[in-house]
Amino acid sequence: MAASRVIELMPGDIGPTGRPLPAFAEPEPLTTHGPARIVAICNQKGGVGKTTTTINLGAALAERGRRCLLVDFDPQGALSVGLGIQPHDIDMTVYNLLMEKDVDARDVLFHTTIDGMDLLPSNIDLSGAEVQLVHEVGREFVLGGSLKSVVPDYDYILIDCQPSLGLLTINALACADSVLIPLECEYFAMRGVALLMETIDKVQQRLNPKLIIDGLLGTMYDSRTLHTREVLGSVVNGFGDKVFHTVINRTVRFPDATVAGEPITSFDSTSMGASSYRDLAKEVLDRWRRTGDANA
Ligand SMILES: Nc1ncnc2c1ncn2[C@@H]1O[C@H](COP(=O)(O)OP(=O)(O)OP(=O)(O)O)[C@@H](O)[C@H]1O
Ligand SMILES: [Mg+2]
Repeated sequence: MAASRVIELMPGDIGPTGRPLPAFAEPEPLTTHGPARIVAICNQKGGVGKTTTTINLGAALAERGRRCLLVDFDPQGALSVGLGIQPHDIDMTVYNLLMEKDVDARDVLFHTTIDGMDLLPSNIDLSGAEVQLVHEVGREFVLGGSLKSVVPDYDYILIDCQPSLGLLTINALACADSVLIPLECEYFAMRGVALLMETIDKVQQRLNPKLIIDGLLGTMYDSRTLHTREVLGSVVNGFGDKVFHTVINRTVRFPDATVAGEPITSFDSTSMGASSYRDLAKEVLDRWRRTGDANA
């Protein structure tokens, strides 16, 4: 019920965030690629849809002809598993990339089943990097240095951050052009957001002046419950235009797609979930275009 209602919304209608929906421009096909915009998908709260957003936004951008590299930057390896890779079966991961001088990102790359979408996988080894990096000079810039060689090959590099504001997440923020913040539409969604904003602010001031916030994305939205609508309303009150008009509905098709090791855009291409992430890709490209991104 809720699903079909969202699909039928037209520009000018009041959207799920309580604001009139703008018309987003159709993304133009690209004739050249790169250099990549690096986007950190970040929220230190667990289970808010960071990994799901990384996989499905990446796949939706790839459908639009944008070359995407997804970086699994969580020792849990959920992004790798969600793309059908068994992280314990792989020799080279992001851990090797960070810690070994002679390992290049291309040595670690996996091509996914989605045309134009590649992955730098991780597994539990990455938890060791956090401890080891503490002693490195320039410890906040190690990921940025490791990604440099592949920046010319992609239009977007999406980093799936772990649920913490530790050194790995700081590395992601220190090399990112922008950050996208998924928020679960439930009562405690805003808990921790002030700390996240403070951290982003400090990274901007001390490590990475170019870092901007792309926006906040409401996930696991259920229009049938009053409280998810109230939560989204309060997020819009607090953050205004930073909140994406697109919201991601709660549906079991996301966990199903994870089990299948595929993005929802290929696992169930005509589903509500697939269409939401396609809408998000269109909205995000529209936002990026306004900030001067030539690949958007
Ligand atoms: N829109 C949605 N509707 C229903 N389930 C969802 C939705 N988005 C994500 N999920 C499910 O919720 C769980 C958490 O999602 P996900 O792994 O994307 O969150 P996360 O923020 O990356 O978590 P973590 O902080 O542990 O890394 C997963 O089982 C996922 O399949
Ligand atoms: Mg995750």
